[in-house]
Amino acid sequence: MSSDDNAISSKIQSDTPSDDNGATSSETPLDTTSANTGSTSSKRSDAPSVDDNASSFQKQLAIDLVQTVLSKGDLSKWAESAHIERHRSLDVYHDFQLKSHNNLNIQEKSICEGENSGESGSIAATPGPMSGLEPCPLLIEAWKELSKAVVNFENEPVGTVAALDTAKDSLNYDQVFVRDFIPAGLAYLLKREPQIVKKFLLKTVRLQSAEKKIDQFKLGDGVMPASFKVCHQNDLNTKEAIVADFGESAIGRVAPVDSGFWWIILLHAYTKSTGDTTLALCSPIQNGIRLILALCLSEGFDTFPTLLCADGCCMIDRRMGVYGYPIEIQALFFMALRCASKYLQHQKDGEDLIELINKRLQALSYHIREYFWLDLPQLNNIYRYKTEEYSHTAVNKFNVMPDSLPEWLFDFMPRKGGYFIGNVSPSRMDFRWFCLGNFVAILSSLATSEQSKAIMDLVEERWQELVGEMPLKACYPAMENHEWQIVTGCDPKNTRWSYHNGGSWPVLLWLLTAVCIKTGRPHIAQKAVELAERRLMKDKWPEYYDGKRGRYVGKQARKFQTWSIAGYIVAKMMLENPSLASIITLEDYCQGRARPVLRRSRSWSCSTDKPKPMY
Ligand code: GLC
Repeated sequence: MSSDDNAISSKIQSDTPSDDNGATSSETPLDTTSANTGSTSSKRSDAPSVDDNASSFQKQLAIDLVQTVLSKGDLSKWAESAHIERHRSLDVYHDFQLKSHNNLNIQEKSICEGENSGESGSIAATPGPMSGLEPCPLLIEAWKELSKAVVNFENEPVGTVAALDTAKDSLNYDQVFVRDFIPAGLAYLLKREPQIVKKFLLKTVRLQSAEKKIDQFKLGDGVMPASFKVCHQNDLNTKEAIVADFGESAIGRVAPVDSGFWWIILLHAYTKSTGDTTLALCSPIQNGIRLILALCLSEGFDTFPTLLCADGCCMIDRRMGVYGYPIEIQALFFMALRCASKYLQHQKDGEDLIELINKRLQALSYHIREYFWLDLPQLNNIYRYKTEEYSHTAVNKFNVMPDSLPEWLFDFMPRKGGYFIGNVSPSRMDFRWFCLGNFVAILSSLATSEQSKAIMDLVEERWQELVGEMPLKACYPAMENHEWQIVTGCDPKNTRWSYHNGGSWPVLLWLLTAVCIKTGRPHIAQKAVELAERRLMKDKWPEYYDGKRGRYVGKQARKFQTWSIAGYIVAKMMLENPSLASIITLEDYCQGRARPVLRRSRSWSCSTDKPKPMY
């Protein structure tokens, strides 16, 4: 982005959302800190055909799961870190500690009982999330709304529609979006009703094999759909078909890069929570993983290990200046690679693929941890960068011009804290904060533990800006004026402090809760959930809120947005039973200590000297 685009203004503080297509007139009382910034085979059977020779791999996987997923060690580690962390909001923290201490006792007891009774410590051995606590009326209501969104295909649940708002044109909100289903899928996994997730994973992998074409151009085989719809082919509703959208109907005609990654991550959560490895190892799923990997690990002209993307290929699915190497995709890519490497069978090309994954993970984590990271000292370094440096000794490797540093950043950056910036490419750093990318970086341990703590410090230090009255900003700050015109192409949906451009998205609550638990700060999530509880149901579960503090229901927000409902449910369940967060978190990743490629002779044995699992 050129420095011309860095229209900076710091005027009056106000929370009025913009309704004037982002153009500021001098009369508007807005403060405007700006950023620079097919149809399927309905008759085929879903039964996975597990390859026979997979059984010992499967056994190994099950052992790894039991040893690492929900061990008592995890629980005491969580409790320990919760004790070590010291924060400003100590009162809330102590309250929370009391509540969760009771829960931890119940869980530990139950897991011991599970072990004794041979239930092998899977999540199925833990008590229901509401154990020992009064049922929460809002949670009960949320479950009622979520169940209304469930979509059936041939009498079996296969997903949830994006929104059930009868007051607005459905557009494509009546479809099952892959990314939107993640919190809903997690909610059902936590409720121990995994069937819908299993069916979803199997249906979407079938859709992957549909022919995908935009005009005369064929998309890669591994592309997963952005969304799908169950269509009734006759008046009696007896004949059903699934029609998928791979980007050919979406605004901007962009394929969803995030779908395949979310699909692998959900598969991992399913396997971790159920202990059922047969799904991950069945041939359609193995094939699906391989096709996704083939897409994103192929060699090209790249000089960076990050994945090059078009604008609008992820949660932010409209033009918002997130083209290039957006942090959201890089963090999902990293997490999906780590999850995939656990389940890839070693036969055929499996070993080579795992080696490729390991190499990419190392390079990717180095690149992101090194070049995307920003805190006060690093900001000061960039501020003093020399430019036009050639050769290997260059400090300013991407030739970033210090003049392109936006002014809002100098005030926003706290003394304590840091974050991964939005994008890094030649002479371009997008310094905006993107919530999803940073939180997935914590979940997947792409962020080191110091970086994870620093991100949480930033969230605490900048609570008013990033959480305000409704959690959480998908992106901060908003772009406006000339910058909004140039970067969004004058998008009337993405005016300042609205929708993707500085709007607040309740769905992000589940991610906040999971990272808070992972970093031992559940009290922060508790505070955010309490904020959301004041409004979400009263406002009919909106898709997003507008305004600097998120005080207004979004200009074009759908009501009864499924992932707002599911995000709340998951957050609530995890807070009441923090060990549940382990279905979506990965343990530390150390560069240079990637999971070794198992040679066949060792990988097929279940001996105790097996190589250490990656987590
Ligand atoms: C909006 C969001 C996108 C979501 C879709 C369906 O377009 O930006 O992330 O998947 O709505 O809810």
